[in-house]
Amino acid sequence: MELVILENTKKDYISGEINVPALRGINLSINAGRFISFVGPSGSGKTTLLNLIGCLDKPTEGKVFVAGTEISRMNRKTSAKFRGDNIGFIFQNFNLIPVLTVYENVEYPLIMVQDVPLEKRKKRILDLLEKVGMISQKDKYPAQLSGGQKQRVAVARALVTDPKLVLADEPTANLDHDTAYKVIALMHNMKKEFNTTFIFATHDPKIVGEAEAIYTIEDGLITKMQENKQPGVN
Ligand SMILES: Nc1ncnc2c1ncn2[C@@H]1O[C@H](COP(=O)(O)OP(=O)(O)OP(=O)(O)O)[C@@H](O)[C@H]1O
Ligand SMILES: [Mg+2]
Repeated sequence: MELVILENTKKDYISGEINVPALRGINLSINAGRFISFVGPSGSGKTTLLNLIGCLDKPTEGKVFVAGTEISRMNRKTSAKFRGDNIGFIFQNFNLIPVLTVYENVEYPLIMVQDVPLEKRKKRILDLLEKVGMISQKDKYPAQLSGGQKQRVAVARALVTDPKLVLADEPTANLDHDTAYKVIALMHNMKKEFNTTFIFATHDPKIVGEAEAIYTIEDGLITKMQENKQPGVN
């Protein structure tokens, strides 16, 4: 099943008097359950593309569909609801909320958008904290954690609503080599267990090596798509 479809999607940013064409016509179709990555030089449009797929921004032209719904024309309120129900985000800087504990950070998306009963909510949070190996740290605050620990909490938070799609923009950029590998392995396990689709934007060769397919973006266009027949081998 196709989870993400882009049809001739374009995005211009207006910067003062100047029009910056960030995406110049993207056609793309990504099936459910995939683990894929966008790569390309700085400024090529990777983050812009993730923002459009994540319903965080609107295209200037063209259409974006996620899970059969056209998200490119939604109003703010509908977008927020759609994101909350369908999409998880993982960022380069972890973006945990400093005044909330590990447990509360993971709980946050459930409170915000989904009407989940308390007991069920608690079970889901503890289950995910267990899976990412952070259960013993559940009462700590983000400032008390290492980068890798923070990112594992962010992985749990991204998955707690059981989203169809997780978007991860440079999720390993602030992690050392070994920690980055562990976080990638963790995301891969989550994909296998929940059949969650993962889309990355990255410069990290470790993610590129683990991805099932790699889309190269240059100057706002997809210039190459390569299936990786043996992810994790190289
Ligand atoms: N909010 C904005 N306003 C104006 N121009 C922007 C804005 N965001 C991005 N751009 C421009 O759009 C183009 C694509 O930027 P984008 O952030 O998508 O690149 P990227 O591939 O994610 O780069 P990086 O690898 O450095 O993260 C760049 O030319 C950038 O300067
Ligand atoms: Mg970027």
